[in-house]
Amino acid sequence: MKVAVITISDRASKGIYEDLSGPEIKNILMEIVPVAKIESKIVPDEEVDILQALELYKGYDFILTTGGTGIGPRDVTPNITEKYCDRELPGISETLRAESLKETNSAMLSRGYSGMKDNTIIVNFPGSVKAVRLCTNVIAPVMVHAVKMIKGEGH
Ligand code: MTE
Repeated sequence: MKVAVITISDRASKGIYEDLSGPEIKNILMEIVPVAKIESKIVPDEEVDILQALELYKGYDFILTTGGTGIGPRDVTPNITEKYCDRELPGISETLRAESLKETNSAMLSRGYSGMKDNTIIVNFPGSVKAVRLCTNVIAPVMVHAVKMIKGEGH
C-alpha cells in the first residue's frame, strides 16, 4: 500500500514550529498497516499548494492530510479536497468526528472531508497530534479492505 501524508499548516511550512502530526501518522501506520511506501510533505494553507501536493501523490492508495479543517480564516483543507475529489466517502469523516467527540467537544468544529479521486482515497484529519493519533487508529483497520474494494477484488 502506498500512502502519502500532507501536513497543511502555514506555521509548520515556515518552520515556525515543528510538524509533529505528520510524523505521528507515519509512525502509527508503519506499525499497524502493511505500508510499502510512505511519503510526506508540508504545505501552507493555500489552495495552489494543497492542490499541487494532492497531484504529486496521484496514484497512491491513500492521501491523509492533517490540519486546516477548522473554522479559522485560513482553514480551507476540506473545501479544496472536496473540489479535487470525484466521489465522497462520508462514512469516514462521520466516524472520525463521532469517535473524536468522545475525546473533545471541539471535534464538532472540524469540517474534515473524505473522498476519492480516481483510485486514491483522501482523508482530512485535524491538525493536533492528539487528533491524528485517534484518527489514524480509527481508519487503519479498514485501509487494506478499502484498497481491495477499489481494485474490484471483492470480499
Ligand atoms: N479531534 C480529535 N480527535 N482530537 C482533538 O484534539 N481538536 C479539535 C477538532 N478535532 C481535536 C479534534 C479542534 S480544537 C479543532 S479547532 C478542529 O479539530 C479543527 O482542527 P484543525 O483546524 O487543526 O484541522
